[in-house]
Amino acid sequence: MKKIFLLLFLMNPILVISQNTKGGDDAKGIFKYENFQKPDECGSSCHVDFYAQWKQMMMSKCYTHEWDEIEYFKLAVPHAEKETKVAGVKAGCNGCHAPVSFMSGDVPPPKPSFNSRANESVSCDVCHTVTGFAGDIPYNFNFISNPGNIKYGNRKEANSPAHETSNNPLLSKAEFCGTCHNEKSPFGAWVKATHLEWKDGPYSKEGVQCQNCHMPRSPGVSSAMGEHHEDVAQHLFHGAHDPGKVRGTIELRIHPEMPDAAPGEQAKFTVVLFNQKTGHKFPTGSAEERMLWLHVTAVDSKGKEYHLVVDKKGFPGEEYTIAADVLAYQDMDVPLGLKDFKGIQRDGIPFGDRIFRMPYLDPQGRMTIQQWNTASFGPDYRIGPREAKTETFTWVLPDDVAIGPMTVKAVLNYQKLPSPVAEFLGVPKDEAEIIEVNNHQTFIEVVDD
Ligand code: HEC
Ligand code: HEC
Ligand code: HEC
Ligand code: HEC
Repeated sequence: MKKIFLLLFLMNPILVISQNTKGGDDAKGIFKYENFQKPDECGSSCHVDFYAQWKQMMMSKCYTHEWDEIEYFKLAVPHAEKETKVAGVKAGCNGCHAPVSFMSGDVPPPKPSFNSRANESVSCDVCHTVTGFAGDIPYNFNFISNPGNIKYGNRKEANSPAHETSNNPLLSKAEFCGTCHNEKSPFGAWVKATHLEWKDGPYSKEGVQCQNCHMPRSPGVSSAMGEHHEDVAQHLFHGAHDPGKVRGTIELRIHPEMPDAAPGEQAKFTVVLFNQKTGHKFPTGSAEERMLWLHVTAVDSKGKEYHLVVDKKGFPGEEYTIAADVLAYQDMDVPLGLKDFKGIQRDGIPFGDRIFRMPYLDPQGRMTIQQWNTASFGPDYRIGPREAKTETFTWVLPDDVAIGPMTVKAVLNYQKLPSPVAEFLGVPKDEAEIIEVNNHQTFIEVVDD
């Protein structure tokens, strides 16, 4: 009897296929494209609404989006071909940006213009076939995928005529997102740490997950013929590419030390910035390329404008956090095959403005935009969740400043990519668009001596 069972077991192909337990680099080429459903199949008649939301999120474009295409094909692939230390990124970038291609061994995939299945980017079936992750820390696409008729989700009782469903509590947890939102470079540097930042911050302790802020719950249905629920997880995933999400992330107030000052006298202004919106640092993720800077100006009663330079605090590496006339990103010479490349302007913003950033440094200690070529970091001067930072501006009023009320305004600006980098690499302008996060203004009276 036992023998017959064993025989049946071995003959049944469904039973013989064991669960996949591989994630990360080990999952390269273990499946075929056919194992994964196309997102338009999920979205044509059933998940119509989520499909429309998915089409608008960055994760449906992370292979096709111009800047991703440029960085991968112009920098990462040639770099991987020239430097053995970073050779792994030729395939590895796709582990997060085109996971179905990676798991099908189609790396590098055809360029976006070929309209191959790589263009599906992070599709429904990438997320909804995840059963776990390999190891203890989620990072470097170590999610474990088990494509098939079972779709994993957040509900215990879900019935679908199209497929089986199973509840996987991991999908409702930050660790799930961490599998792609934490990244370690070939040099062992945490070049993306959104989940780790969250874990160290106040929100994780309160049980607030990534999903609470990026997939808010709202009453409705999750499928055209599905049941009504009070708390359907919306697939918004709004982030840096959504100005509305970025705006107001930081609240700021500026106040003067003294209510009045005379020409030639010193005035001092304090700006307090408070991160009231993000569950991780701001900026997070692709922090090598995000710019967040504080610009303070004074306008006298005759309308003349003056630019105020931030006071130095004196911490190590502070020079990276104050916009200056310096060059950076010299390590692009290898992938671009440039000789005697001196680099390009580092910041592209007014000199003397405070930048809230963490500089990524290449193996030679120069600032880099190539996160895979990062060996160490400068000071982490980003604004943590619920953290407040204070900046001061000490300024000697010019002798010819107009007498009367003077307005002093602080503006916090944000940019996804420094303009000099965007111009140099030919990235579409909107990638370097400046978004005002917030502003506040105060007054002093300029008086005669
Ligand atoms: C980046 C990963 C990701 C992608 C891409 C994605 N989903 Fe989801 N989806 C999730 C997560 C995570 C949840 C559960 C959220 C929670 O529990 O807070 C979810 C929940 C759902 C649910 C159940 C919602 C509810 O509250 O009942 C459905 C149905 C669903 N997704 C379908 C889709 C479809 C269809 C697509 C493609 C058009 C898609 N998803 C794309 C991650 C994703
Ligand atoms: C399979 C990998 C993968 C998983 C899993 C994943 N992401 Fe992403 N996510 C990406 C990639 C790649 C991008 C970059 C898109 C781009 O090219 O700008 C991204 C971008 C984003 C953005 C940025 C949107 C913007 O406007 O710039 C948000 C927000 C986001 N993901 C949230 C989440 C959350 C929340 C989860 C978990 C529920 C999650 N992601 C799970 C790969 C993933
Ligand atoms: C308390 C709400 C909150 C929580 C929790 C939260 N986020 Fe965010 N997230 C935001 C806000 C607000 C922004 C927009 C500002 C910005 O770009 O950082 C954002 C931005 C992002 C971006 C875009 C960053 C960029 O520069 O492209 C990503 C990616 C992201 N979040 C992923 C995550 C992941 C992954 C988690 C969980 C580990 C998470 N978020 C938890 C509020 C939150
Ligand atoms: C571990 C997963 C992972 C790997 C590996 C990875 N990325 Fe990403 N990538 C992401 C996520 C997640 C984001 C979005 C981060 C954010 O917005 O905070 C992102 C963002 C980007 C962006 C920025 C898009 C923008 O919105 O400004 C580019 C360009 C990019 N990646 C290219 C690459 C290249 C090239 C490689 C290989 C060298 C690579 N990525 C490897 C997960 C990954």
